Amino acid sequence: MRVKRNSIHGQWSSRWAFILAATGSAVGLGNIWRFPYITGTYGGGAFVLVYILCVLLIAMPIMMAEIMLGRRGRRSPINTMYVLAEEENLNRSWSYLGWLGVVAGFLILSFYSVVAGWTLDYIFRAGSGAFTNVADTAIVSIFDGLLASPERLMVTHSLFMALTVIIVSMGVQSGLERAVKFLMPALFILLVIMVGYAMATPGFKEGFAYLFEPDFSKLTGEGMLAAMGQAFFSLSLGMGAIMTYGSYLPSNASIARTTFSIAVADTCVAILAGIAIFPLVFSYGLQPNSGPGLIFVTLPIAFGQMPYGQIVGTGFFVLLLFAAWTSSISLLEPAVAWLVENRDMSRPRAAGLAGLIAWILGIGSVLSFNDWQDIRLFDKTYFDIMDYLTSNIMLPLGGLLLAIFASWQMPRSSSVDELKIGHGLGYQTWRFLVRYLAPLGVLTIFLNAIGLI
Ligand code: PHE
Repeated sequence: MRVKRNSIHGQWSSRWAFILAATGSAVGLGNIWRFPYITGTYGGGAFVLVYILCVLLIAMPIMMAEIMLGRRGRRSPINTMYVLAEEENLNRSWSYLGWLGVVAGFLILSFYSVVAGWTLDYIFRAGSGAFTNVADTAIVSIFDGLLASPERLMVTHSLFMALTVIIVSMGVQSGLERAVKFLMPALFILLVIMVGYAMATPGFKEGFAYLFEPDFSKLTGEGMLAAMGQAFFSLSLGMGAIMTYGSYLPSNASIARTTFSIAVADTCVAILAGIAIFPLVFSYGLQPNSGPGLIFVTLPIAFGQMPYGQIVGTGFFVLLLFAAWTSSISLLEPAVAWLVENRDMSRPRAAGLAGLIAWILGIGSVLSFNDWQDIRLFDKTYFDIMDYLTSNIMLPLGGLLLAIFASWQMPRSSSVDELKIGHGLGYQTWRFLVRYLAPLGVLTIFLNAIGLI
């Protein structure tokens, strides 16, 4: 008989609290900043379609697997993988998968914090009316000016990292849970207002068509890899964040239903952000493929021209900051949980140490927009490399291995026992997806992107 475990870090107060926290982790800069800019880079509609297919067929089944493993192991990903491997008499090296996740978490957080810093900067700019009634070109220069200043980027990067460390220090319930409860719905409402505004602009039709009319001639292997990477990034999968949150999930909560709610909420926010942004891109004659700065240029132009734009704009960046905050804490949590478990550190110390590592790694991203702009590998800056390596390689690879562990290594009886959806059609569909479709899907997209198939 297996002993019932509880996490030493505490537990969510309910299934609902878990959904909020996991949605808080999923919804972030990935939806509002990254989704539109990557969609623009890879040509729109066909990319969006592949993205949605990746969410449904690859990411959702893997998310169920990740939550399931977390709840069964009840520890940080490194120790969860170790304990589960031990329990099922499997190779203990599976714990390295936990390490891969911790490293990916540091790398993502390092550049995530820099972009969240832009948001912080923009709160003050929008608040002081810097965007109101100025020419589009002036707004472009505001963004370029920000990127050109390492000092300003460092200040906001440091501030944001400090905010992340503070919440993680406070622990599972008091820190993580409280932050998400009303901020998520507020963000959603503001996004709907922005969509309303976008609908009234002349570029609405063109923007809408850009998002939803697939032009497959624009879809490359590289674009498909980016769509899959975005699905992992946006749903916080493949690096142990959701596994860690799953380890705090009460035993009686339904993993299938929670996964569904999180994925739907996350996808809706990304699509809404797309519908809010692309019409503006076309209305103002901007380029959809203008890269990471896309929302930091389009949205301020809109805020500058709409009624009450100063208030709406400030509110928007405040909420975006919160969305980023509830995601960044989940990037740090796996490493912190491990430090508390294995290094006997107090939570605040562990959070401080982990935050410091990510902060140092982030300095490279700060400099890649100015002093280190010309230091490139395959034409990518340090920031581009961090972003590409984590989203397109580490997360899908982590997800692939998790899927293999959960469905090929762990016996069927263990997943039946933990998922609690019986042996019926639901379970069989899940098992088919994680066992065959998801791993083959990830592999095919990998091989296709490097030109092997
Ligand atoms: N899902 C988050 C977002 O969309 C980012 C993230 C990735 C968080 C991986 C945790 C793990 O912004």
